[in-house]
Amino acid sequence: MGSRTRLVGGIAVATLALGALGAAGAVAAPGKPGESRYTSGSSGVGDAYFPYAGNGGYDVQHYDLDLTYTPPGPDPAPLVGEFEGVATIDLVATQDLDRFNLDLRGMDVHALSVNGKPAASVAPPLAGAEVDGAAYWHVQDDAARVWELTVQPRPKLKAGQQVQVVVEYGGTTTRPRDIEGALYGWVTQRDGAMVVSEPEGSMTWYPVSDHQTDKATYSFEITVPEGKVAVANGIQPKPEETADGWTTWYWDAPDQQASYLTTASVGDFDLRDAYTSGSGVPIIDAVDTKLTATRLATTNASLGWQVDMIDFFESKFGPYPFVAYGSIVDNDSVGYALETQTRPVYSTQASEGTVAHEAAHQWFGNAVSPERWQDIWLNEGWATYATWMWNEEQGRNTAQTTYDNWYAPARTQAYWDLQIGDPGELGLFLTQVYNRGAATLHALRLDVGDDAFFEAAQLWVERYDDSAGTSEDFQAIYEEVSGEDLDDFFQVWLYDQQKPPATWTTP
Ligand code: TRP
Ligand code: ZN
Repeated sequence: MGSRTRLVGGIAVATLALGALGAAGAVAAPGKPGESRYTSGSSGVGDAYFPYAGNGGYDVQHYDLDLTYTPPGPDPAPLVGEFEGVATIDLVATQDLDRFNLDLRGMDVHALSVNGKPAASVAPPLAGAEVDGAAYWHVQDDAARVWELTVQPRPKLKAGQQVQVVVEYGGTTTRPRDIEGALYGWVTQRDGAMVVSEPEGSMTWYPVSDHQTDKATYSFEITVPEGKVAVANGIQPKPEETADGWTTWYWDAPDQQASYLTTASVGDFDLRDAYTSGSGVPIIDAVDTKLTATRLATTNASLGWQVDMIDFFESKFGPYPFVAYGSIVDNDSVGYALETQTRPVYSTQASEGTVAHEAAHQWFGNAVSPERWQDIWLNEGWATYATWMWNEEQGRNTAQTTYDNWYAPARTQAYWDLQIGDPGELGLFLTQVYNRGAATLHALRLDVGDDAFFEAAQLWVERYDDSAGTSEDFQAIYEEVSGEDLDDFFQVWLYDQQKPPATWTTP
């Protein structure tokens, strides 16, 4: 899909020469009439929460990731892994490009070529300085959270041109953290790696335009020590191959996929692939062989519901959007689960409520992604609301009762202060985003009625499938289907810093 070319402005990174980053906001020198104006692709897509996530000037079509990984092994070995990768990235230039960026964090680039032409590794140039010939440089500033690999292709690239970038890279894997301190990205575990990259942790394991406004397809070739299992998104196009103590696992993800939803987890997994949903979606689970008996029992029971959950959500939200489904359940923990596309990752066990939540994300978050990170309530509110619906379907509390139970208790002002329509980069995963988000959807349902509510939900998924949308886009769909003016509704529920009224009827 189209990558965004909005400029990142006003970012002061005192320790860096902005020119070295590929200059967000760079303006082309005026060309002679009829001459091309080659500019630098911007160093971010313009997401206010993560200004350096994603990149401008091109649109990625496909990532082919060829990875080799050795996990740390047991104590007392240091908790680091060895990683080597070759990323082959097919992209289309969307402007005449002098330079463009990729995001890459904590890895070293060994070699880089563009359309088969090798580029030289050079030190980051000062702002405005010329660099001779095809070159690349890598700026990594952990304190400023700036990780930018700049590529200067020669010859320069024309808008519309199909480009193949090959990056050989690697290093020692650690345990990266997101902006609020949660583990994410390529999280090294003694027996493998848990790979969960929301919101912009994919750059810890492959060179990427790390933003959901530039979705792409993926293929994987993951080589691990014999006995380890590597599980990524999608399907296995062919069986794994073992030689000389190494096993190579192949995975294909042919659906458009946001970078944060990519996984390539490694562990001691029991791979189970013998079943499908009612509508024929193949389900492939990978369950850590080291789960405790209690957790294994909980996990097996919960994963057993996946077929019914897909059937149920299809009846409400429309056809399941991808080629496959299934779960990765790791004995280790990152502290949360993630809805990685077609194959969510669970920490220590999978519980029924979480399995329902991650399944619903396949429609809300994955097929349709939040265009800006401030739109996160569209992911978490929907996934939470879908579990309210699932509980009702199972004969437990109705969605109405769950809503009433959310509404009833008195809460601190701090709870209402958080604007779920703009929670801030440190507020993405706060409870208000989930629960006020779900309550927003229930209130919307009461307001527009069941028919319009589900018709609009399906239209949202259909129209923005393989793409991304904002809260404003979402409101527009509900207005289109219901015929109501929902300005007040969304103002009150997403932004007003107080408890919304108990009942809501748009006049
Ligand atoms: N998006 C995940 C879910 O709701 C949760 C998540 C991602 C998360 N990163 C996090 C939760 C960091 C807490 C902290 O399924
Ligand atoms: Zn979620």
